[in-house]
Amino acid sequence: MILLARVTALAGVHGDAGSRDPGMGVCDPNNCTRPYNHGQRMITTARELYQQIQARRPPLLLDVRNEDEFARWKVEGAHPVETLNLPYFAFVEDEPGSVAKVKDWLAGRAPELVVICAKGGSSEFVAEVLRGHSLSAQNLEGGMIAWGGQTVRSEIPSSPVRVLQILRFGKGCLSYVLSAGSDAVIVDPHRHMDEYGALLHEHGLRLRAVIDTHLHADHVSGAPALAQSASVPCFGHRDDFEHASFSFEPITDRAPLRIGALDLAPVRFLHSPGHTPGSTSLLVNDKLLLTGDTLFVGGVGRPDLAGKAAEWGRELHRTLQERLRPLGDDVLVLPAHSAGPQEARADGTVAAPLGALRQRNPALRTDAATFVEEAVRSAGAAPEAYARIREANMGHWSASEDELAELEFGKNECAMARRH
Ligand SMILES: [Fe+2]
Repeated sequence: MILLARVTALAGVHGDAGSRDPGMGVCDPNNCTRPYNHGQRMITTARELYQQIQARRPPLLLDVRNEDEFARWKVEGAHPVETLNLPYFAFVEDEPGSVAKVKDWLAGRAPELVVICAKGGSSEFVAEVLRGHSLSAQNLEGGMIAWGGQTVRSEIPSSPVRVLQILRFGKGCLSYVLSAGSDAVIVDPHRHMDEYGALLHEHGLRLRAVIDTHLHADHVSGAPALAQSASVPCFGHRDDFEHASFSFEPITDRAPLRIGALDLAPVRFLHSPGHTPGSTSLLVNDKLLLTGDTLFVGGVGRPDLAGKAAEWGRELHRTLQERLRPLGDDVLVLPAHSAGPQEARADGTVAAPLGALRQRNPALRTDAATFVEEAVRSAGAAPEAYARIREANMGHWSASEDELAELEFGKNECAMARRH
């Protein structure tokens, strides 16, 4: 109780709307009661942090979550990021000792330091403590939840159907906007619908359909709600969505995408079971393959999420060898997940030609027996939340934004682990 009171008091002095410019997170010297560091920025956003890392100008990071939480999911970038993990409770129990540890780590450097926790509350407290010791510390606004929710967009050059890739960089989830003229289709949307609404408006597009490549387990899909809000069909494969509580348009293997009278022939479905029974890829312009969680740049989707690693593993191997492998070497694979920033190309997109994956992705070079053996050996427990997320994605359950954010907290764990 005492601790809570102290946090609230500190936040009130330094974080209240009356004492800082909400646009910059900088205190107003005329209206701020703290005695030090006026004019210093107190917050940074997830987007700003991402941009700093991309530009090779990362701040030093202080992550104040517990060690196991830190080990499981942290801020990473395409370029090295230096992070100290010193849990919040250490600052509560021994403030001078903890500040000394931070100063030792800084070793005389006087950088912008960004403090991180799960939601931005504990880190705000620690940042304030550090500022009280004359260190320049900003709080990552919204913490790791904000880091996991932010996106960047990239165009994948292609015609006649245009493709925009949307990367949730913290969580490693990818969704796509396909467009032909002013007609748009969204594939694997996440639950923040406003972002897609803004994007469609910006590009003068009209939403004609939404597609989920499969029943997602790691994040809450925005597909049913997005489809409902725009009164357009929501496509899904019957083998995944048969028991969904919302109405869906069943996917037909090898059929072109048709929405009423609108024929988007350059987009074709390719049933690719294994990660889930209904997993489906999309072949676009005969040149791009949206693979969902079937094939990634660095691996394949895990076939063990339903406890059927051998059965689904066999199916996945068949899909990779018989359905995907015959496609041309120059077909560009666009997955629904990335294992991390190391998989991004120099332009920030997550993609790789199928020919290159044939060379470097062992899953495409392994015989069926070895592949299944590995699927069984690598099978493991999925995060507890995945069962609830699947239920939410079937429309059987819903919750508040805060509950959903907590449910899908963490990096995706959708790739088959390799234990070589
Ligand atoms: Fe998945």
